[in-house]
Amino acid sequence: MPRTGVRLRCIACGHESAQWLGRCPSCGEWGSLVEASASASVAATDAVPVPIAEVDGLGAARMPTGVGELDRVLGGGLVAGSVTLLGGEPGMGKSTLLLQALGAMAAPGRRVLLVSAEESAAQVRLRADRLGTLAPDLFVVSETSLPAIAGHVAELAPSVCVIDSIQTVHDPDASGAAGSVTQVRDGAQAVVRLAKARGMAVLLVGHVTKDGGIAGPRALEHVVDTVLSFEGDRHHELRMLRALKHRFGPTDELGLLRMTGEGLIAVDDPSALFLADRRSGATGSVVTCTMEGSRPLCVEVQALVSDSGAPVPRRVARAVEPTRLAMLLAVLHERARVAFDRADVYVSVAGGVRLAEPGADLAVSVALAGARSGCPVPDDTVVIGEVGLGGEVRQVPHLARRISEAQRLGFRRAVVPPSAPPVAGIELVPVDDLSSALRATVGASVGDG
Ligand code: TYD
Ligand code: MG
Repeated sequence: MPRTGVRLRCIACGHESAQWLGRCPSCGEWGSLVEASASASVAATDAVPVPIAEVDGLGAARMPTGVGELDRVLGGGLVAGSVTLLGGEPGMGKSTLLLQALGAMAAPGRRVLLVSAEESAAQVRLRADRLGTLAPDLFVVSETSLPAIAGHVAELAPSVCVIDSIQTVHDPDASGAAGSVTQVRDGAQAVVRLAKARGMAVLLVGHVTKDGGIAGPRALEHVVDTVLSFEGDRHHELRMLRALKHRFGPTDELGLLRMTGEGLIAVDDPSALFLADRRSGATGSVVTCTMEGSRPLCVEVQALVSDSGAPVPRRVARAVEPTRLAMLLAVLHERARVAFDRADVYVSVAGGVRLAEPGADLAVSVALAGARSGCPVPDDTVVIGEVGLGGEVRQVPHLARRISEAQRLGFRRAVVPPSAPPVAGIELVPVDDLSSALRATVGASVGDG
């Protein structure tokens, strides 16, 4: 039960109360009554302008979650008072990931709370047994009522609170159907106010369906500070964690984990994992090294070109932006005389990685030309570079790190933009245009114009 003798103030209207209430009797806002000292820090009426250099930075309050890949994506950890939404399809491992993080964050003097609105406390306990996260300062409550959750938070005063999931908690007094977009968004807004007022980091689980979801996290993106997506193929163990929105750090880092019997484990050598199933001598297969945030990642680009009977040939690419693919096909046609007029074209990247940066252009182009001509690229060759509209091969950022990563994995030849820095143990083949790149990879028969 909430502590007595504490002065509470509504963060919405300033109404004061000696007693903890789920809903403010003055303005009707729920979950808004917090200890007066805590509410003072956010009450707009108390705010005064200060020189920017004297404002407390948020960096100091960043708290590592103890799950390395989650910290990588968050830019070091959770910020006090922030609200993070973890979205993903059911069964991805969201509950598992957050239970592992809570177990690692719980420490004497730092209580953490898991509000499980889907599973009983006993179920959570069984999972924690399996994951080895039975920390004494990790508290669990099975609860779906938002005012009751606010009460538990006021009483326990946790530093971190996980609510699993935002779709299954509700305010019994609010209008609208439980789980509706309005209820879910209003619920999240109340949680955000609670987090800010208490300086408590909150993680919300949000289920999404394949098509983005009804009452799903999309409706919540504006309300929270950070949106993480947890993706993967349920039939495979690989899971990818990305930040779609992040007020406190980068959004381009990729976290890679494996779902195992002992929970989620970081992938030690992602490049090796992505190249594990590569077949020797396959046409249309090209390895490139892309940057995922601060990390170089070697992946296999695959292209398939097939004669089409359709009036409009198909262009299917999950890994590459459709407009980027269209541009590369046009450049191949105009600058290197490789035509795809009456052909269906498919491009994919093994492992489900998306090539969001132009550094993979050259590899995609070579894969397409190789698929068209039937000539394989030598197995020991990696291809890196951006392609311009003139067919020129352009510099890409972090070239030395990309080449080194390929060298580490055993590649012996790198087809790269001119003026690439030398790297020991790998031969560089500088190419200044697409035709030269094709000659260096899929043979002289292609790209001669
Ligand atoms: P879960 O975390 O419940 O997914 P979500 O919360 O996203 O719906 O876990 C999903 C699946 O993972 C579940 O079917 C069981 C499996 N699993 C493991 O393979 N290993 C484990 O250690 C745990 C806890 C779960
Ligand atoms: Mg779950």
